[in-house]
Amino acid sequence: MTNDSLTVIDNRTGATYDLPISDGTINAMELRQIKVDAGDFGLMSYDPSYLNTASCRSTITYIDGNKGILRYRGYPIEQLAERSTFLEVAYLILYGELPNQSQLDQWVYDITHHTMVHENVRTLLDGFRYDAHPMGVLISTIAALSTFYPEARNVNDHVSVELQTRRLLSKIPTIAAYAYRHAMGLPYVYPDNDLSYCGNFLGMMFKMTEQKYRPNPILERALDVLFILHADHEQNCSTSTMRMVGSSLPDPYVSVAAAAAALYGPRHGGANEAVVRMLSEIGDVKNVPEFIASVKRGERRLMGFGHRVYKNFDPRGVIIKQTAHDVFEVTGRNPLLDIALEMERIALEDDYFVSRKLYPNVDFYSGIIYEALGLPTTMFTVMFAIPRTVGWIAQWREMLLDGDQKIARPRQIYLGADERDYVDMDSRS
Ligand code: SDX
Repeated sequence: MTNDSLTVIDNRTGATYDLPISDGTINAMELRQIKVDAGDFGLMSYDPSYLNTASCRSTITYIDGNKGILRYRGYPIEQLAERSTFLEVAYLILYGELPNQSQLDQWVYDITHHTMVHENVRTLLDGFRYDAHPMGVLISTIAALSTFYPEARNVNDHVSVELQTRRLLSKIPTIAAYAYRHAMGLPYVYPDNDLSYCGNFLGMMFKMTEQKYRPNPILERALDVLFILHADHEQNCSTSTMRMVGSSLPDPYVSVAAAAAALYGPRHGGANEAVVRMLSEIGDVKNVPEFIASVKRGERRLMGFGHRVYKNFDPRGVIIKQTAHDVFEVTGRNPLLDIALEMERIALEDDYFVSRKLYPNVDFYSGIIYEALGLPTTMFTVMFAIPRTVGWIAQWREMLLDGDQKIARPRQIYLGADERDYVDMDSRS
């Protein structure tokens, strides 16, 4: 028996078992040896919503929820947000190391030169109603890209994986911008290869009749920081979806579409949209105490607060709050910020929230910035999906190369009816 083990006694049989501990976990399959007799299937673990289950080993992102630590490949998010760019961080997340200058130049060139989409994508987009939610448009269109690149289903072909990686990172901003332009009844703006990743996105979103779109450098940098902060977050709901769907080996386009669908929900990436709707509904700082009271009565949730992992503060929220001030220097102060700041001040002093370890998360302030940039609330989750695409892809690629991984297929506890015979219609009550 080694020290790195758990010795358990099955009180049903008196049998003792030594279960090895590795990486702070017990391999669930070790439980299957614990049986009451030879015909017993053996024990399983029960963990609805995976509150305490590690689904994989990963080297991409590290989070310490109690200490508010977030690192991509070991680099603290604070340093990356201050000193890096989104494309450089995307390279880091995908390949594990910061690129040298020639690697970065080639990477930027590759991403820049895959931003166009097939003209049929425009026809597809025109089929959506004018008021179609951009997330529905984005999810559908990403899945549709699967039909343009049938070779993408060769997920064990490294060359194809690299090409689809570049296509997804490059084309999703284009599709996102097209979804916005379609909703606004504006002509699509083709990518401008002279602009940065974020500058080009702003151009595809907001270029009007000017010959050349010139992004405001402060807003361009603020968006780059926001994209860095949203790039990956280990095994969150949407990334776990990417891994789950990817485990049956479809092409990466449909897997990313599935991940984006998971992100869409208000408990996850849809929260930034819900936050701004909540703040707008509150309308004035004087209404905050009553809203907080309604939350404490359990009538609603304080959107943008709380996190499954962060139990003190979300380091991204701290940086986003700082970025908001940079943006408002250019756009003018968003009055919703005052409501948000008052809500945070009250909540952080109220035991209801403190006792439940509810603090502002990444979504609490991001929507206020997006609104100040001129984006409609329906685009906020799209703004989350764009940068998170690199995290989904990196985790998917890691899963493909992980010898421990097979098709994901959880078990269940069956509590339904025991065997019974079919009842003809005239015998039914
Ligand atoms: C993201 O996983 C990730 O990493 C996600 C993400 C990423 O980068 O991928 O960080 C991005 O999704 C951030 C979270 C955005 N979602 C929201 O802001 C929606 C509002 N927050 C929640 O619904 C909630 O806090 C979750 C979903 C974020 C976390 O939920 P948990 O961990 O399942 O916690 P829970 O729902 O079991 O709540 C625990 C307690 C409960 O109270 P009691 O039943 O014990 O009395 O806290 C309460 C909840 O009612 N609670 C809240 C609350 N969140 C939890 N009460 C009021 N307002 C809230 N926001």
